[in-house]
Amino acid sequence: MPHPAPSHHRTERLDQDHDGIRRAARLLRQGGLIAFGTETVYGLGGLATSQRTVERIFQAKGRPSFNPLISHFASAEAAFAEANMTIPLRDMAHALARKFWPGPLTLILPRHAESRISQAVTAGLETIAVRVPKGRAVEELLRLTGEPIAAPSANRSGRVSPSTARHVLDELEGRIDAVLDTGPCTVGLESTVLDLTGPHPILRRPGGVTLEELHDICGSTIVVEQGAADGSTPRPNAPGQLSSHYAPSLPVRLDATHIQPGEAFLTFGTQQTEGPQPDLTLNLSPDGNVEEAARRLFASLRQLDQAANRQGLTGIAVAPLPEAGLGRALKDRLRRAAAPRPADQTSPPA
Ligand code: TXA
Ligand code: MG
Repeated sequence: MPHPAPSHHRTERLDQDHDGIRRAARLLRQGGLIAFGTETVYGLGGLATSQRTVERIFQAKGRPSFNPLISHFASAEAAFAEANMTIPLRDMAHALARKFWPGPLTLILPRHAESRISQAVTAGLETIAVRVPKGRAVEELLRLTGEPIAAPSANRSGRVSPSTARHVLDELEGRIDAVLDTGPCTVGLESTVLDLTGPHPILRRPGGVTLEELHDICGSTIVVEQGAADGSTPRPNAPGQLSSHYAPSLPVRLDATHIQPGEAFLTFGTQQTEGPQPDLTLNLSPDGNVEEAARRLFASLRQLDQAANRQGLTGIAVAPLPEAGLGRALKDRLRRAAAPRPADQTSPPA
């Protein structure tokens, strides 16, 4: 389906004071595209109830329209009003919301037949993805807007997710109406996506809430989707599982203990390489703190990619990283960054 041409005009930069947030809410209510920080990453938001606005979100990102979006709400009550839940599911959803909202958890739920969320958000699926994000500014923004906001991460499709307003402008300047500068994101990796529409909860995407934390509420019945764990080939019925994602311009090689010629090195804690030393090294957390590494991952990938390109380097080698806790999400993002790239992904979409 042909899309209207993207709007090429100036992108306003708004401060996260009351005036800035009010302006952002007003632009959203008028159908604008506004990027804003959440605790996870910056989102590219628009009214989830407006098909036309949602189509513009897909277009600004260059995102395939079969990949559905998350709707953001000011409260669990507002989120659950869009879902159709019977008793056991409702109890679990409420328990999860009490424990993790506002926070980095997205729930996939059966869509209510009368939901106001546009079919363009859910890509025609019978399910919806909902979340209540955390952060003073985003919480106020959602309250003032008074409507659900559909928001994918505010990057060009397939690229590294943004954790600052600068990152957003680097990719979307002139393609969106405004960015609300809420400072650097505190978690730094996207929300955990938990699918509650089947007989067992399925972890569709590891993220800011860890599997260990989910087990406390859901018991040990959570199925970890293979693609979610190892970044392997997407399945047609699992829209979240596009394999190459979070890709910097240079190729990424994981679990590196030796540097190959031309490689920059992304490391963690005290890990070093054997043999010849890299010309360029960036440490995600010299103290070996996985939360710090998560917070810094996307900014570090961008920074290292740019510096390596300037120095004429040709690849990024990544040290082995821990698997536990947030390490699962960290490694998931890096596996996707390292995944084989489709030919058309090396250049930004037209
Ligand atoms: O932390 C986050 O979740 C950020 C911030 C902005 O909230 N948003 C984000 O959105 O990461 P996005 O669009 O980059 O990722 C949404 C993920 C995709 O993998 C999508 O396929 C999946 O959620 N998703 C959305 N609706 C779905 C549904 N009904 N069924 C299965 N997966 C769904
Ligand atoms: Mg994304």
